[in-house]
Amino acid sequence: MVDESVKWIYREEPRQENTKVSVNDFSLENAKKVRGFHASFDVYSKTPLIRLNNLSKELGVSEILVKDESYRLGLNAFKVLGGSYAIGSLLAQKLGLTVDKVNFEMLKSKEIREKLGEITFVTATDGNHGKGVAWAAQQLNQRAVVYMPKGSSIIRLNSIKETGAEASITDMNYDGAVRLANENAKKYGWEIIQDTAWEGYEDVPKWIMQGYATLMLEAIEQIEEMKLNKPTHVFVQAGVGSLAGAVQGFLAALYGEDRPITVVVEPNKADCIYKSAQSNKRTIVTGDMDTIMAGLACGEPNTIGWKILNDYTDGFISCPEYVTANGMRILGNPLQGDKKVVSGESGAVTTGILYSILKNENLKELKEQFKIDENSKILLISTEGDTDPVHYRKIVWDGLYPGEA
Ligand SMILES: Cc1ncc(COP(=O)(O)O)c(C=O)c1O
Repeated sequence: MVDESVKWIYREEPRQENTKVSVNDFSLENAKKVRGFHASFDVYSKTPLIRLNNLSKELGVSEILVKDESYRLGLNAFKVLGGSYAIGSLLAQKLGLTVDKVNFEMLKSKEIREKLGEITFVTATDGNHGKGVAWAAQQLNQRAVVYMPKGSSIIRLNSIKETGAEASITDMNYDGAVRLANENAKKYGWEIIQDTAWEGYEDVPKWIMQGYATLMLEAIEQIEEMKLNKPTHVFVQAGVGSLAGAVQGFLAALYGEDRPITVVVEPNKADCIYKSAQSNKRTIVTGDMDTIMAGLACGEPNTIGWKILNDYTDGFISCPEYVTANGMRILGNPLQGDKKVVSGESGAVTTGILYSILKNENLKELKEQFKIDENSKILLISTEGDTDPVHYRKIVWDGLYPGEA
């Protein structure tokens, strides 16, 4: 039985130890290269950074900023940043070039397409990553095969199929679908573009993680443009921990010891990073992981992501389902004067847990340990919009998943 309560770990070690894994792959210089690649897409623009002044007053902190990834390239989630950059890097390698020598227009050209021949990209996904890979394959006039775990949303499946990809829902959980993608890649000579790493498969996932740096680079630049101070806290949600590892890597590379306090948030039903932090070693969670936070329903931590999180991250939280439902309602129904953010099940959990921390007396100890007070400036990443609009409305309108603060 899964213990459905808010559980947390706060570690002092990341600020004390001096032997750390390198975060050079996420340096500002690298992030600028990555953003250069994304900026070559004709649909590229920065996603908004929303300042929720009234919510921060209501909750008693100095600042709450939300990076709204529902605007990402018209695809409703941040994930395409990773898949597209990995595909770009892989194709550059095939062409004998470095990634800064290629851009999307060039990769789309007839001449390059002929040079490369037909390539099939294969991946496993709960929805958003597969959509990003399928979109990139479509843009490049290549083929994509996408496997989804059992119980996946038909709406998310159809949205992947719309790109022309061959997509199906398997009878396996997420980690099983990843294994299937890997087996078939080997069997048929396909290129696996998976958003998690394991021993012996780390190049593509590293590119995917680097791809996510674009959103952090944008956020930091937006904070500067708004003439705000750097965040004291960054909350990031985790499935396999690729995004969280990238966010943590970027912050550690940029700010060193002065980096914000970082907090990784997961559902109770799929809390492999929390369990890894608890046992001080990469720990796998098994089973159906039937959380509404579909993007976070992963049981096997990314090996690269975990190493970075283990070395640098301050806090880890595992939380019940209602937490994200609260977050979706808060962001979708803002206080007067604050902007609305449409945030899906995997997008809103960090807002939901911040609300719980600041409103729920039972979490006072957590609040103190995590040093959250009236001076805190908190950055949250709303990683997706309503990628399953029907389920989104069931939660926000019909009140599915009610719960305590
Ligand atoms: C919307 C959304 N947020 C967060 C994540 C978590 O990312 P990761 O698996 O890299 O931890 C995912 C993963 O699919 C996602 O789709």
